[in-house]
Amino acid sequence: MASPTASGKTVIGELAIIDAVKKGKKGVYLVPLRSLAAEKSEDFKKYVGYRIGVKTGDFDSKEHGLEECDIIISTYEKWDSILRHQPDWLDTVGCVVADEGHMLTDESRGSTIEVLLTRMVSRKVKVVILSAVLRNVSDVAYWLDGRFMQSSWRPTLLREGVYLLTEGKDRKKAGRQDHVCKSVLEYKDGQRETLPDETGNAISNLVVQTLRAGGQCLVFARSRKGAVRLATLLSREVEKELTPRDLLAVSEYRYGDELKSTDVETSNKLAYCVVKGVGFHHAGMSSEQKRLVEGLFRELKLKVVCSTPTLAQGLNLPARRVIIQTTTRYDEKLGSVTIPRWEFENMAGRAGRPRYDDSGDAIIVSKTDAQMKWALEYIKQPIERLESKLTIEAPFYSNVLSEICLSESPTLSELKSFFSKTFAAHIGGVDFVSDKVDEATKFLRGSKLIQDDKSRLGGLVKTALGDRVSRLYITPLSVPAMMQGLQASERKPITSIGLLHLICCMYDWKVLILTGKEEGRDHSGFPTADELLVDEKASDRYDLAMRPSVMMQQYIDEVEPSSIYERFGISEGDVHVAVESADWLMYSVAEVARLTGHFKVLPALEILNRRVDKGVKEELLSLTSIKGIGAKRARLLWRQGVKTREEFEGLTESQRDKMLGFHLKVDSPHGGQTNLSDF
Ligand SMILES: Nc1ncnc2c1ncn2[C@@H]1O[C@H](COP(=O)(O)OP(=O)(O)OP(=O)(O)O)[C@@H](O)[C@H]1O
Ligand SMILES: [Mg+2]
Repeated sequence: MASPTASGKTVIGELAIIDAVKKGKKGVYLVPLRSLAAEKSEDFKKYVGYRIGVKTGDFDSKEHGLEECDIIISTYEKWDSILRHQPDWLDTVGCVVADEGHMLTDESRGSTIEVLLTRMVSRKVKVVILSAVLRNVSDVAYWLDGRFMQSSWRPTLLREGVYLLTEGKDRKKAGRQDHVCKSVLEYKDGQRETLPDETGNAISNLVVQTLRAGGQCLVFARSRKGAVRLATLLSREVEKELTPRDLLAVSEYRYGDELKSTDVETSNKLAYCVVKGVGFHHAGMSSEQKRLVEGLFRELKLKVVCSTPTLAQGLNLPARRVIIQTTTRYDEKLGSVTIPRWEFENMAGRAGRPRYDDSGDAIIVSKTDAQMKWALEYIKQPIERLESKLTIEAPFYSNVLSEICLSESPTLSELKSFFSKTFAAHIGGVDFVSDKVDEATKFLRGSKLIQDDKSRLGGLVKTALGDRVSRLYITPLSVPAMMQGLQASERKPITSIGLLHLICCMYDWKVLILTGKEEGRDHSGFPTADELLVDEKASDRYDLAMRPSVMMQQYIDEVEPSSIYERFGISEGDVHVAVESADWLMYSVAEVARLTGHFKVLPALEILNRRVDKGVKEELLSLTSIKGIGAKRARLLWRQGVKTREEFEGLTESQRDKMLGFHLKVDSPHGGQTNLSDF
């Protein structure tokens, strides 16, 4: 089903699911974003009497086990990982809805989605694909032997345009009121209007105009940092526009208690913005913080939210105006690239949702005439055709492994036959995909993840290692570095930096590899040759892993955060993501170590895992094992001579209060002076 944003595709998916449930089967609704899964779970509540389960990793409903559910709402990856565990209720799935189905063309996620849908169709499960940005919908439908519907109807008007503000800020700063500056808004249909430049900033001007007309704004920023910075900047202007009633509605967040996470700096910034009617939203925030921001925006308490693409798809938000700060983004491999047209249309489509507004607009911001001209051309271009990303190496190897794990001893030609049913083969030809399957099986065999089946001629089966890797959801490309590291741990000294370097060498360590340019930079703290467990041959990330591993080491050595941020050019959100990533990889390494008999590494890994979890030196681990005692409180107690859990438990209530509570201002190991309420 291909129809514009806000045209009501959800209900088509819902009907397909309800139809399956009425036939005694389960219906599965898949989405690309966690926030969208949360929204859909609310939407499904109107179907009273059905048992609904949500599975997204960070938010899993606990009321029913999945086997008892009629309807399962999940993210693509979570559903894929559920399939890898081969639950015995899988045959009861009658319908899968792939919402935002164009994600098939996403570089890192598309391969998995394509294989997943191919697998569902092979199992005779009904598949419904929904998308607002599917140009070649017939290709997709014919691939799955299905039918398609296409419509260009949108219930509310959505206008796209470009705003040009020249020299706004500089002119204001320099006090040059005489200088002629352009402040023009031009829509795709050629209509133009002049906007008063009241604030000297393009985004602020657009926001102020919308607020005065009674609307709200969603601003898509360049990066996480950009979203926070923009929200802080806009707060000042937005606050001026709020009525006393608006201010009252957000005043309860003044102390920020509800907005708090372990990341004090983000929490403080969020509290600062929220009381001024502005929020921000990005993947580095805690799920509670994100949910709160979404909720406050929906309740019309926040007038503006600055976001990264975490809010770009599918969501129904009360945004009369969507502002797009830039149409370029930074790509790891290619540098600065233009955002695909389909992605832009999806962001734009968050504006003017029928539930909240009768119309909306989506505006790109530009600074020069040339930029404006370019952007006006850009929004007139057709969206791209959907392409397959199936055979991109890392996810493809992973998908070939999972297919071998899920099938019963497939031969190479049976495997090829399965992959010949994919969209890649439908579009690009069977031979192309067949060669890729050869490459993948060769790699998997070399990494000892698969082997020949002794009981079936030509059959391929998973090894115990392959099975574990597939279930842990790590990419086969991570395996060479991991195995070499484990083998080296038998004969070399095991240090925390050596282990951190090991996990940073794994392919699945996604974050912070960009900080790896070594020339002329500070090499202090780099692991020595003796400490390294992985060598250059085992990982093409060997060098790039140095800096992130030192960063993590400093984090667990309680180094002042601001000095970590400065040295590595990162922010607290990056550390948060790095910790999450490290946690998963250390767990995976430990699991594989146990399986392959590399027991020597386990105690060190266990300690490292706990240190990373809390961000502390080993000496604090006894104290941080107490519920409610985090890094800061533990350090505070340590400084006062209480060094273990037992010593703490031996204290009276009032001694504890005195130690923790009378120091309203304490020197925190994680950054400057902090109020105790920040713990
Ligand atoms: N024909 C309609 N009549 C009444 N309300 C509608 C209609 N179409 C859509 N809506 C409402 O519009 C909102 C948007 O619907 P929905 O989320 O299903 O859009 P969508 O097509 O999935 O958009 P997107 O591509 O952005 O995900 C919902 O609140 C829905 O109830
Ligand atoms: Mg939708």
